[in-house]
Amino acid sequence: MNVQENISLKPYNTFRINTKTKYFISFKTIDDLKKVLNYEGFRTIKKMVLGGGSNMLLVNDFDGIILKNDTKGILVTGENKDFTYVNAQGGENWHQFVLWCLEQNFGGVENLSLIPGTVGAAPIQNIGAYGVELKDVFHELIAYNTETNDVEKFNLEQCGFAYRDSIFKSKVKGQYIILSVTFKLTNNNHRININYGAIQNVLNSKNITNPTIQDISQAVIEIRSSKLPNPDEIGNSGSFFKNPEIEVADFERVQKLFPNIVFYNLPNEKVKIPAGWLIEQCGWKGKRVGNTGAYAKQALVLVNYGNATGEEVWNLALEIKASVKEKFGIDINPEVNIIK
Ligand code: EPU
Repeated sequence: MNVQENISLKPYNTFRINTKTKYFISFKTIDDLKKVLNYEGFRTIKKMVLGGGSNMLLVNDFDGIILKNDTKGILVTGENKDFTYVNAQGGENWHQFVLWCLEQNFGGVENLSLIPGTVGAAPIQNIGAYGVELKDVFHELIAYNTETNDVEKFNLEQCGFAYRDSIFKSKVKGQYIILSVTFKLTNNNHRININYGAIQNVLNSKNITNPTIQDISQAVIEIRSSKLPNPDEIGNSGSFFKNPEIEVADFERVQKLFPNIVFYNLPNEKVKIPAGWLIEQCGWKGKRVGNTGAYAKQALVLVNYGNATGEEVWNLALEIKASVKEKFGIDINPEVNIIK
């Protein structure tokens, strides 16, 4: 076991926050993982699994052991005339996995191009973008139960996927380590999803009327690159807050006061409001507060301009949340995991 002690987590989180962990170990196989979990000296210590570190805000030093998932491998596990089943290890980089699928001409993940993070982290918050969520291409996953030391299989229903949520983020948070995920991808007759206006606009500008999955991926990459800061240049964790879903009656009250409000009707008698719009209306877009701020091209993304501490970012987030509540009476809540 190669255990590192008291190391900085700056290279391991895309917010580039410089906190420390007491212990750090990366595992490449399930046997390595078992060794760490069963090692007497680590039995009672706090543990946290890390993928790409792209959906977390580290506020304090971590007084435990960080387990970095470095398992690798992508494998076709089955196919029929419509679908190919592909299993990817949890430590695979998400976007590299998407590119691999595009090279094989397997469809379903193209709208999820360029999302930072790993395959193993993707189901935890049911990553989503441009009209597609992970659950739409999910077949099953294998996870290690840290309480019983068993390896368990979860199908679509058992994962309890919802908007930026799953049982692994709520009900059984921290109990499982996702080892690998199997996807159900189209191998012909791809289901092209270009309902999201911005994708259509990019395709129109290129005169593409019959887009391939590769064209869609390229359009998504262009949109994301133009709106979202590259974590290698400016530390961030993508959308900091979830888009709030409110009751129709509450929405009508707010709409009377703010007729320009942007919204999407949901099937469950609820209305979704883009948190980025709410935050922008409160004057935060592009505003810098010390080493942190709300990004100028997308107010929902909080950024680290260099040396921000996790606490600075968190304090800004709380201020933004309070101002949205005061102006609109709407609660917005973090999408990223706050590690305190
Ligand atoms: N808007 C503003 N001001 C802003 C930002 C957004 O007014 O500063 C309004 C605009 O009306 C815009 C609308 O919000 O049309 C939606 O904005 P955008 O298309 O950028 O999407 P979003 O709702 O802000 C969500 C996801 C993103 C995902 C995009 C595209 C959440 C929390 N975020 O953002 O996911 O890429 O849709 O599907 O659901 C992430 O999770 O980290 C992430 C980046």
